[in-house]
Amino acid sequence: MIDIHSHLLPGIDDGASDMDETVRMAKMAVEEGIHTVICTPHHANGQFMNPGDGVIRLVNEVQIVLNEHDIPLTIYPGQEIRTNLEFMDSFSAKDIIPLYASNYILVEFPAREIPKYTEELFHELRVLGMTPIIAHPERNSEIASDPSKLVRLIQLGALAQVTSHSINGMFGPKIQKLSINMCKQQLVHFVSSDAHNSTRRAFGLRAAYSSINSQIGKQQVAYYQMNAEKLVRNEIVEAAVPAWKQPKKWWFF
Ligand SMILES: [Fe+2]
Repeated sequence: MIDIHSHLLPGIDDGASDMDETVRMAKMAVEEGIHTVICTPHHANGQFMNPGDGVIRLVNEVQIVLNEHDIPLTIYPGQEIRTNLEFMDSFSAKDIIPLYASNYILVEFPAREIPKYTEELFHELRVLGMTPIIAHPERNSEIASDPSKLVRLIQLGALAQVTSHSINGMFGPKIQKLSINMCKQQLVHFVSSDAHNSTRRAFGLRAAYSSINSQIGKQQVAYYQMNAEKLVRNEIVEAAVPAWKQPKKWWFF
């Protein structure tokens, strides 16, 4: 398995606290069957900046440590980038980097809204040949209360990544139900861990795929796993045009 969203790097955001925890997390990833992880520390979220060159340097250092510990895990650089008005300038300055060497870029909205400038930002990224991947849309309250707003962004060329722990129920039954419904209705293109530590928020990717397998089917799991592989190879991820149908007895917030 490939995990495209994690906070595995030590001591640079609210993820792994130090190298020991990074090593513990890496071992846990391998035990689950994950062979490749993209490290996506927070960028511009109001607390952490983590410019691209520092992330790339640290990934190289951590890979050496993992190799010394004989942990068969390949790690690549990336960022989880909070939308902001300087986004395109930061991209030009290479403070913002894509996921590994791809044309995919992981974008995070504030928890409660989709910023007004999002469509324009996504258009500018698309003009440059970049595909924004929206991190955990199921945890954004504007999307959660009206998932058709995510459909609109997907129609503009964005993709969406659901977090394994949302599928597994860590964020409560509402987000769990919403996540599965989004998967069923083709609003999701990637499942990844957003792992932050080796205790409460580790990977949970195998459990999430197992849940998707039993609730939707093995083709859906294969689709997500293939998309992560395509991303690493910088190939085009096929996305159906979704249409959100409100499930009966729908309730959220
Ligand atoms: Fe994250």
